[in-house]
Amino acid sequence: MCGIIGIVGTQPVADRLVDGLRRMEYRGYDSAGICTLHDGQLVRRRAQGKLANLVTEVAANPASGTSGIAHTRWATHGAPTQNNAHPHATGEVALVHNGIIENFRSLRQELEARGRVFESETDTEVVAHLVSEQVEAGKSPQDAVKAVLPQLRGAFALAIAFRQHPDLLIGARLGSPLVVGYGEGETFLGSDALALAPLTQKISYLEEGDWVVITRDGATIYDADNQLVEREITISGASAVAIEKGNYRHFMQKEIFEQPTVVAQTLSSYVRPLEQKVALPQIDFDISAINRVTIVACGTSYYAGMVAKYWFEQFARVPVDIDFASEFRYREPVLEKGGLALFISQSGETADTLAALRHCKAEGQTIAVVVNVPTSSMAREADLLLPTHAGPEIGVASTKAFTCQLAVLAALAAHFAARKGRIDAAEEAEIVRYLLEAPACLNGALQHDDEIAAMAHLIAPARDVLYLGRGPDFPLALEGALKLKEISYIHAEGYAAGEMKHGPIALIDEAVPVIVLAPSGPLFEKTVSNMQEVRARGGQIVLISDAQGLEEAGEGCMATIEMPKVHPLIAPLVYAVPVQLLAYHTACVKGTDVDQPRNLAKSVTVE
Ligand code: M6R
Repeated sequence: MCGIIGIVGTQPVADRLVDGLRRMEYRGYDSAGICTLHDGQLVRRRAQGKLANLVTEVAANPASGTSGIAHTRWATHGAPTQNNAHPHATGEVALVHNGIIENFRSLRQELEARGRVFESETDTEVVAHLVSEQVEAGKSPQDAVKAVLPQLRGAFALAIAFRQHPDLLIGARLGSPLVVGYGEGETFLGSDALALAPLTQKISYLEEGDWVVITRDGATIYDADNQLVEREITISGASAVAIEKGNYRHFMQKEIFEQPTVVAQTLSSYVRPLEQKVALPQIDFDISAINRVTIVACGTSYYAGMVAKYWFEQFARVPVDIDFASEFRYREPVLEKGGLALFISQSGETADTLAALRHCKAEGQTIAVVVNVPTSSMAREADLLLPTHAGPEIGVASTKAFTCQLAVLAALAAHFAARKGRIDAAEEAEIVRYLLEAPACLNGALQHDDEIAAMAHLIAPARDVLYLGRGPDFPLALEGALKLKEISYIHAEGYAAGEMKHGPIALIDEAVPVIVLAPSGPLFEKTVSNMQEVRARGGQIVLISDAQGLEEAGEGCMATIEMPKVHPLIAPLVYAVPVQLLAYHTACVKGTDVDQPRNLAKSVTVE
């Protein structure tokens, strides 16, 4: 959501703070700011909008100092203006915050009643005033923070600078991630290890309720009870190499084209080609005893979970519930003993999903996570970590993480089925063979990039677009609609093809393109019948199918996209490519900001 970095060092920090923000801009780009400590002053530079505006501001008004904090914002409370940009400062302290202070209204009223004057509409500013009050009353930075943290409800990662103490920063976390980085005569705070990658690889992950004082000599960490604690220093694998677009126009485009490689990379950890078996990391529980799977996720990761439900039930005959993480806890789900709760997340930090994970853990479920960031909070709190190997995904629209999630989930479903005796060795070998075909088939799908780019000109003028699919391709219809909405701002809906006639068919006219996902196979004819219902009402159809499907049903469509002929198991991976490319090229035609679409952030760490 928001990105935080802090440095207590010996060299000027302004440029390094800005560079750290560059590596976190995907977390939010509503505004950015830094505050350095220099000559007993808090030197603050802030700018509305993208980081480039802050770069211009800092170039025009340099900020000296060898310690400082910085922030890139995804707005929650208060419009994305310069006044609401972090750091928020009072006379004595400046601070940056990721998360939401849920009780900020009552705190603000109390502070205002005591005469404090606010300059922003944010929840964050109350923390600056609370800490400042304590400092003004003569407390040390440590005692000031100790007095304030128990007053805060909600989720936060904080980095706090003190005007009179340029040699220290204080960080705190509850519900939002924060790491400490250790350098040579320098110490850092960051939202994640990636932000600190060029500065250090030596990282400690703060735990829930921890707070930390960093100085040039290192870090002193306290837990929620203010007891001194040690947190292990690990070597982060995060690459210091700048994440570049290479020859691609956008990160999203690059990430779409990386899919054959990263899916192959991911599969190499989950299948043994020679033995023709699926292979999972060490599992410390008996998978054959699992009697129910509960899948919880958000957004694109949720759609990966929907596909997985088909696979788990079809192969392993295990009943599966699936929920949006934001709904899950609040419907008081029944979680029986012996259940596996499976969480899917690119970032591993999505607040709704993390909260659901903790709920399931408290309810005695075994916790498995499919995540792309192996050092994330979800990864660290799981009983079974199933990493995807997609590499950093920078484009806000998730693409390669999705297909890698599907690869892991297919292998997991097959493993369940084998352990439960639902499939024999020959059937397992067949699944492995199909999975290993996926990278080449993804490559085949990418060959249609040019024709999809041309077709995007037909979709770009539309006000509404419908996507239809059946079975495991229904979640793909939802995913296609999500991709189009988020980056081209065209209203789109995904529907189960057979559900169309129960209402949405009323929307059909010649101005509403209908994208039909229909690989030839057991569900093809039924989907085509639903497609004919659209055509009979003047609907304009884009049919995405293989040569055989297009031969049978392509006539009369506004456009067709040919996919390689694939086994139904890997169709959701392969058919992800045309829906991603169609959204991508439509956004390019419309000239929207593909990698940083309006109002969004890559990682949503508030509920
Ligand atoms: O990091 P996560 O996978 O937990 O994120 C979940 C959603 O926020 C994410 O998939 C979002 O919907 C993407 N912008 C979709 O492209």
